[in-house]
Amino acid sequence: MAVKAALVFVAAAVLLAYYCDQPVPEGIAEPRMYAKAQGMVFRISANLARIGEYLGVGTEPQNLRSVMEAIVKVGLMLKGSSYREGLKVTDTMFDGVKVRVYEPVSAAQSSSKVPGLVYFHGGGWVILNVDTHDPLTAHVAKQLGTVVVSVDYRLAPEHVFPAAFDDSVAATKFFLQNAEKYNVDRTRIGISGDSAGGNLAAAVTLVLAKEKGLPKLKTQALINPILQAINFETPSYIAHGHLNTLTKDKIVSFWLWYLNNDLSFKKVFEANNHTGVQIKKSQYAGYVDPKMVDVTTVKKENIKFPEIPNIATILDPRFAPLMADDADLKGLPPTYVMTCEYDVLRDDGVMYARRLEKARVEVNHDHYEHGFHAFLNSFDDYELAGIAMQNYLAYLKKIL
Ligand SMILES: *[C@@H]1O[C@H](CO)[C@@H](O)[C@H](O)[C@H]1NC(C)=O
Repeated sequence: MAVKAALVFVAAAVLLAYYCDQPVPEGIAEPRMYAKAQGMVFRISANLARIGEYLGVGTEPQNLRSVMEAIVKVGLMLKGSSYREGLKVTDTMFDGVKVRVYEPVSAAQSSSKVPGLVYFHGGGWVILNVDTHDPLTAHVAKQLGTVVVSVDYRLAPEHVFPAAFDDSVAATKFFLQNAEKYNVDRTRIGISGDSAGGNLAAAVTLVLAKEKGLPKLKTQALINPILQAINFETPSYIAHGHLNTLTKDKIVSFWLWYLNNDLSFKKVFEANNHTGVQIKKSQYAGYVDPKMVDVTTVKKENIKFPEIPNIATILDPRFAPLMADDADLKGLPPTYVMTCEYDVLRDDGVMYARRLEKARVEVNHDHYEHGFHAFLNSFDDYELAGIAMQNYLAYLKKIL
């Protein structure tokens, strides 16, 4: 055991040294600093998580969660907590779901009601939490004078789909129904999230659009959202699947942890072999690939899937919002989509924006030619991320 541990340690050290020197694309924002640093952090964390599982210390997703959260925590300690000044921050429960509520002091004192925003953090449904996104959600609340509810939904793989989705719906409904308690105008509530949080925001928006008796959401604002699991060979997956800031390898793991916690199907998914010829020629494939002209409309109940647990779920819009039919997109609230060039998920967001436009939904699409996945979280650190944050806030200010 000691020899094995020592060998693994040496191998890990060599790997880490090697990974420290990964090239980043020329055009990416902050290539020498942030893009590179974030890529290194992700890559090193991913490998430590795997090595840990191999050594019998926790599972890969648990380890990834611990490592990433520890790293973010150090960053937050260095930052201090002054960014929360002017806010009342409360951890509480909304209909059994853990949430953190940010109330600007100005909003509590305001004689008229203020807008509200429900926010879902990113992290592949597996890692990160309301703490890791605390600076972002606090900033949004403060800058907009808006009450922000950050949802601490249950994580996979301990809780596979639909746990995170169910929590997201429950917390949003509760806020819509109890907005007055927070001096919030229930007709001025929006929903937002980044990455897997963008997935949850889009899924909740689709479902609430069909619910009667609730005020309509004012907007959905989707930041680098992850929206489909039927095609891992879109142009952005092909172009950027190896980028350390978010690899195709990690994305497929996240989807599987969320779907069924069975990573034995990883190679099958990566090769797009988890869908048969029926799906590959169907309207669902067309939802992802704008160049497909001759699609054959298939009914879900007639599709033959390979033998993979829960596989039919990949066509469920609550799991993968890009699988929503055109009729489901009609009448959705005005939508904001942020995408980045250097992101495997670029085409997920671009396609959703295009399909919503075609369905006559009002769409604001900000695409960052030099941006990369999750760069918005660094809004305080460098220019492009700061500009992206300003544009996001300007949109919310106008719409809410
Ligand atoms: C994917 O399917 C192709 C064609 O059926 C096959 O040649 C290939 O080995 C499969 N790959 C994986 C990883 O399943």
